[in-house]
Parts: sequence; structure tokens; C-alpha cells
Amino acid sequence: MIIMKVIRVESYHEMSRVASDILVGDILKKKNIVIGFATGRTPLGLYKNLVRAYKNKEIDFSGVRSFNLDEYYPISKNSKRSYFSYMFRNLFGLVNIKGANVNFLDGSVGDWKKECESYEKLIKKNPIDVQILGVGVNGHIGFNEPGSKRNSVTRLVELSDATRRRNSGIFWKAPEKALTMGIKTIFSAKKIILLASGRDKMKAVERLLRGEVGSDCPVSFLRGHKNLVVVVC
Ligand code: F6R
Repeated sequence: MIIMKVIRVESYHEMSRVASDILVGDILKKKNIVIGFATGRTPLGLYKNLVRAYKNKEIDFSGVRSFNLDEYYPISKNSKRSYFSYMFRNLFGLVNIKGANVNFLDGSVGDWKKECESYEKLIKKNPIDVQILGVGVNGHIGFNEPGSKRNSVTRLVELSDATRRRNSGIFWKAPEKALTMGIKTIFSAKKIILLASGRDKMKAVERLLRGEVGSDCPVSFLRGHKNLVVVVC
């Protein structure tokens, strides 16, 4: 059975609320849930709501296990630009998740191949129950840029100029490369919650909902996933 639920809302605030309501429910149902987390601007409101729910004692992260989607390469974990730092700043450092339950691609390793293979194996052993996703303007998911294959797994990728430009700041330029879960890895999650906010994402969302499925717009590969929730505003 294929479930694709599209929830259209009026605001970023509402999108974050819908997403956190779903995720809070999932955490309450399964104490040792495995969650795949995304970074970027889109899930920040969701993470704020999760922190609030934790502080209000509605949810407990002590059994939660996590895998993050991607990380720049090369980058040190301690860099404030690393996705590792982002997660601790915005969620992990503010709730009672156990450090040992947090899984991340390490952007500082020399042997990226080994790092990607062991991440892929670890995910196979601990299948992701719910994967949170944002989407790039060009349709990327994780750092699977246009051209990524449907059967791609965790690997080293080159970032497109557009993605690097969007993710860079005035004083910092995003690295040329990144480590990312592949499309196949993402697809293996039991449930996917994709969040998209803003006009510039709508073309990619339309491709996912109605357009042609193809590697020129990787998010379109999610069509046909057995349990996909798309929350758009
Ligand atoms: C981040 C990630 C990316 C972002 C996408 C959208 O871990 O995997 O695919 O979800 O680039 O980024 P924002 O939310 O900043 O527009």
C-alpha cells in the first residue's frame, strides 16, 4: 500500500507545527525510534517545537536514535558551519538524547569511502523509522544533486555552484564536496516527512507531486515511497 499525504498550510509556523505534531506522536509511539534528521533553514521551526515539547515533558529523547542526512567535506565537527554543530546547537544539545545514539557522517575523516560504507551498514542494521527532509531549489534531497541516481547510496558528492552559493555566508564559502546518504538510503526509511517552504521550492515540489520522475530533479524519486508526508507552505 502506498500512502502519500500532501498537507498544504498557510505559513512556516503552521508547517513546523504540523511536522512536530507528527513527530511527537511518532516518538510517543516508539521510545527507541530511529529518526533521520535534516539541517538547513527549513526544519528550524520543527526543532524549536521539539525542544519545547521536551521542556514541557511531553516527549523524552533518552531512547531516540538518530542519523543525519549529510555533512560537508572536509569539515571539522567543531566548526560552527558543520552540520554536526548545527544539530547540537538547534536540537541535540537542548534535549536529553544520548551522545552514543547520535550518528553522523564525519566530515573530517581521510578515508571517506570507509566512512560512507560503515554509515550505510549502520543504517541497514538500524532502519530509519522517520526521515525528515527539506528540498533544494534544484530538487536535491540530502546532498543528492541533480544527476544523482535512484539507486545511489551514502557517498562523497560534489555540490552544485547554486547549492554552494545558497549555503555560503559573507565570510564563509561552503566546501565543494559533501558526504550524503544516497537516494536509495533515504528511500529505505519507513516514513518520510518532506518539508518545503517558499515559492522557490514549489517547482521541485510540483515535480514530486505530478511531474516526471528523473534524476534531473532527485526529489521526484520519492514518488511511490510507501509512506510519504509532504508539508508545504
Ligand atoms: C540539509 C539537506 C538539504 C536541505 C536543502 C534545503 O541536511 O540535506 O537537502 O534540506 O538544501 O535547505 P534549506 O532548508 O536551507 O532551504
